Amino acid sequence: MDLGMHGRRALVCGASKGLGKAVALSLAREGAELFIAARGQDTLNAAAEEISDLTGSRVRTVAADLTTHEGRRAILAACDDIDILVTNPGVRQQPVDFRTIDRGEWDAWMEAHFYASLDMIRAIVPGMCERRFGRVVNLSVSFIKFPQVSFAPSHAARVALAGAIAAMVRELIPFNVTINTVCPGLFDTDALHTNLHAHARRGGTSYEAIFEDRLLHCPAGRIADPSECGDLVAFLCSAQSGFMTGQNIINDGGVYQGLF
Ligand SMILES: NC(=O)c1ccc[n+]([C@@H]2O[C@H](COP(=O)([O-])OP(=O)(O)OC[C@H]3O[C@@H](n4cnc5c(N)ncnc54)[C@H](OP(=O)(O)O)[C@@H]3O)[C@@H](O)[C@H]2O)c1
Repeated sequence: MDLGMHGRRALVCGASKGLGKAVALSLAREGAELFIAARGQDTLNAAAEEISDLTGSRVRTVAADLTTHEGRRAILAACDDIDILVTNPGVRQQPVDFRTIDRGEWDAWMEAHFYASLDMIRAIVPGMCERRFGRVVNLSVSFIKFPQVSFAPSHAARVALAGAIAAMVRELIPFNVTINTVCPGLFDTDALHTNLHAHARRGGTSYEAIFEDRLLHCPAGRIADPSECGDLVAFLCSAQSGFMTGQNIINDGGVYQGLF
């Protein structure tokens, strides 16, 4: 299937590794021209070179911190006429005790998992509406459907973002601009392994025990390859997906048992 992406310009945030990089690769394979953003310039350069070598697509980099106003401004200044935006706040995902973290820490989670993506959407969507094409995919987490106590600030901020998106989408779809949220479960990235190590330390157990426990609770019995997220996002960014908006799509190997 041709996803109608040739000549489209895509900005993928948090894209020097992990899920963001997999998304960037899937979009580039479909012919999109890329801007990829993350903080570390060296890792970004390596990702850009790899994606460009594999696909022949043009890949430009912006090194900036999405959790700051200055960082977001720098990214927006470096890219124009974006047709496809993939928001991804990167990682701020250590387990915490909601009783002991202070208000400043709650605010930091909101900055990372709410404002970092919301500000990009608000800045880029008006141009998409003018050009009568836009696809936005918000990379979130499956737990927005069943928030966990040890990630309360992260999950709360991500639920708030999904709510803000749900409120916006009906004003945008008449302009052929859609926003959907992808909610991954366990994907084989550095962040996942760091997270499992943190859980193990906190629970006084081993990484291996935590990993086995996660697999036991995942009907697929495995963790997923990042490309399985990248290709899903690519479809949501396609010409064909213009009738689908405001959805929170779980991609977690069957862990979530709810009907909706
Ligand atoms: N992997 C999973 O199983 C999984 C499951 C559900 C949800 N998620 C979520 O998906 C997102 C990506 O996770 P991942 O597993 O792909 O992580 P990852 O492999 O660690 O990659 C994170 C990417 O984001 C960039 N980044 C981190 N903080 C940033 C910041 N402040 N500003 C700009 N870029 C930043 C990193 O580069 P720099 O460090 O150089 O900035 C890197 O490119 C996270 O929000 C994570 O919670 C992951």
